[in-house]
Parts: sequence; C-alpha cells; structure tokens
Amino acid sequence: MKDTISINSNNYEKKSVGPNCVLIKSLNPQQDDFAAEISFGLTRKKKFIPSKYFYDANGSRLFEEICDLDEYYLTKKELEILSAIKSEMPKYFSQHGSVVELGSGSSIKTRHLFESLLENHSHVKYYPIDISDIVQESSERLQDEFTNLHITGIIDQYEAGLQLLKNLDDKKIIVFFGSSFGNFDHIAGLKFLNSIRNCMKKDDLFLLGIDLVKDVQVLEKAYDDSKGVTKNFNLNLLARINAELGGNFNLEKFEHRAFFNAQENRIEMHLESKIQQQVYLEGVDLQIKLEKGESIRTEYSYKYTLRQIKNIASKSGFKINKIWQDEQKYFALVLFSTR
Ligand SMILES: C[S@@+](CC[C@H](N)C(=O)[O-])C[C@H]1O[C@@H](n2cnc3c(N)ncnc32)[C@H](O)[C@@H]1O
Repeated sequence: MKDTISINSNNYEKKSVGPNCVLIKSLNPQQDDFAAEISFGLTRKKKFIPSKYFYDANGSRLFEEICDLDEYYLTKKELEILSAIKSEMPKYFSQHGSVVELGSGSSIKTRHLFESLLENHSHVKYYPIDISDIVQESSERLQDEFTNLHITGIIDQYEAGLQLLKNLDDKKIIVFFGSSFGNFDHIAGLKFLNSIRNCMKKDDLFLLGIDLVKDVQVLEKAYDDSKGVTKNFNLNLLARINAELGGNFNLEKFEHRAFFNAQENRIEMHLESKIQQQVYLEGVDLQIKLEKGESIRTEYSYKYTLRQIKNIASKSGFKINKIWQDEQKYFALVLFSTR
C-alpha cells in the first residue's frame, strides 16, 4: 500500500496491522494535555472537564452501549439517513477515492459510504482519526469486511490528524458523524469549520452530521437513559481521573445531570456533588473543594435549526450542496463544498 503521508517519528509511532492497514499513533495524544486541562477545569469558579476525555477504553465501550439504547435516537436517525441516500451517493461522491473521518469511533456509519464508493473505485483509502485506541479495533474489523479498503488509522486529536492529511493527492470526503460538532460552542465551532476548510482542496467535500432542535423530552431522555448507561459514561470521567491522576473521587457522591438549556439550544451534562466534599488528585498535587449541589460540567451538545446551519455555512465560507434529513426531521446530514 502506498504511503501518502509523512510523519515525524518523534511524535508518532507507526505499525502495520494487516495487509492494507497501517496505524499511526501519536506518542502522546491526550496525556500531556490531560493533567493540565483537568487541573485547569477543576479549579475554575464554574468547574468543567473537556468532553474529549470521555473516551478512554471504558468510555469508548460505554459510548457503543449508548448508541444501542432506544432513547439515543441520534445514531439511529443518522444511520436512517445514510441508508436512505445510498442511491444518491454516486451523484455526489463518484470521483472521491479517499475518506477522512473525524472521531470515527466504531466506523459503523461510514460503511454505507464505503459500499457506495467501492462501486466506482477498485479500492478506497480510509483515514479514520480518533483520540481513542478504538481506531485499531474498528480498523481491524473493517479490514475483514472490506478487502479493498486501504486504511491508515490515526490515533490523535482532530486538528493534528487533519494536519497530517492536508496534502493528500486524491479527492477526499471529510466526514464528521455523531453530532460531535455540537460539542463545540458557536465560536469554537466556526473556528473548527475554518480549520476543516483550510485542509480541503477545491473538489473535496465535507459531510457533517448535526442534531436538530426538537421536543425537549426526546432530547433529555437521550442523555439520561432509563438504564443509566449515560450516567455511567459521565461518571467514568471521574474514574479515569482517579486512575490516571491518582484522584480519590468517590463516584457515589456525584449525581448525573442532563438537561436542555433552551436559551442556548444545548444539552448540558453535569456531575453534581451530593455533599460538601474535598477531593485530592495526588498526581498533580491538587486539592479540590466542592459545595453540596455544585456541579462539574462535562458536556455541551448544541442542537441546530436549519437556519443556523445555513448561517454557519456562510460564516465559514462553505457552500451547502445538500441537506438530508430523516423522516422525523430529528437529524441532518449536511454536505459542504468550498465553492
Ligand atoms: C460521539 S462519538 C461518535 C463516534 C462515531 N463517529 C459515531 O458517529 O458513532 C465521538 C468520537 O470522537 C472521538 N473524539 C472526541 N473528541 C476528540 C478529539 N478532540 N479528537 C479526536 N477524536 C475525538 C471519541 O473518541 C469518539 O470516538
């Protein structure tokens, strides 16, 4: 397999995990930032933990469980759209032989795209980028399923992964599924769209999955399910801090909170302290005080209207080629180009 990207071996290690599958792993995708960002977030007046830290091995596994929950409509609706537009895909994507996926996770949704692209190309190149080691497992699974898929998996953060792929020769489609774009606030979201645009050549495309504003109950249940999987996903952040930074968070002393902030059009997830307490993180020698009822914000998930989507497209210099929605109009897949 021809290697189209060059890496600095001080920053990345590279290994082959199959005939058509290479993994490039940042030597430190999260850890440098982890201690600093956790210490920063937990010492603010309004405490927070960046949501990208949900995805250690256990967090990634719990997210897969969330995707299977009845209440978590997001995965189902996005898959519904991808499946419904399969016959339309060649019209838009027939010239594109490379797929770059941001936050690829299990890569389940991208399969629809591969099936379509492989009808027009003898092989397709796939570059999943994810902060989590899940890239290895999902790449290995894809290899078994699609022998004509040439995979270069990148275990790193979005921006760093995109930088590695900036100069790909092939026409590429960048995909960003799962409504992860909603984790950015509006300013960071625009900045992110600009960084994607800067990595695109004139015929490249960008396919973005966006969750839409809808009934509050539907929204809130998706982030506070009856089986408590989302609760465990949220609490896992504290378990991770305990394991990696020598913390002594007692998970039972925190409540999972998820609610829709209608003013901001966003779901907020928090961990709320049930009592007044002190927590110590030995690894960074940090003492944290929490009042009873005080919360640590762990996620924003912004929901969009079609008008807002058009607005962010024009602000970031993207042209919208097409917007697809599921039947209930819960979710949108938006196809952008640079002109
Ligand atoms: C909500 S999940 C979506 C997974 C998959 N795309 C889907 O639609 O089911 C978000 C994924 O993005 C990854 N992720 C989160 N923040 C990231 C970051 N800053 N850089 C790279 N990957 C990130 C996580 O590890 C996780 O696999």
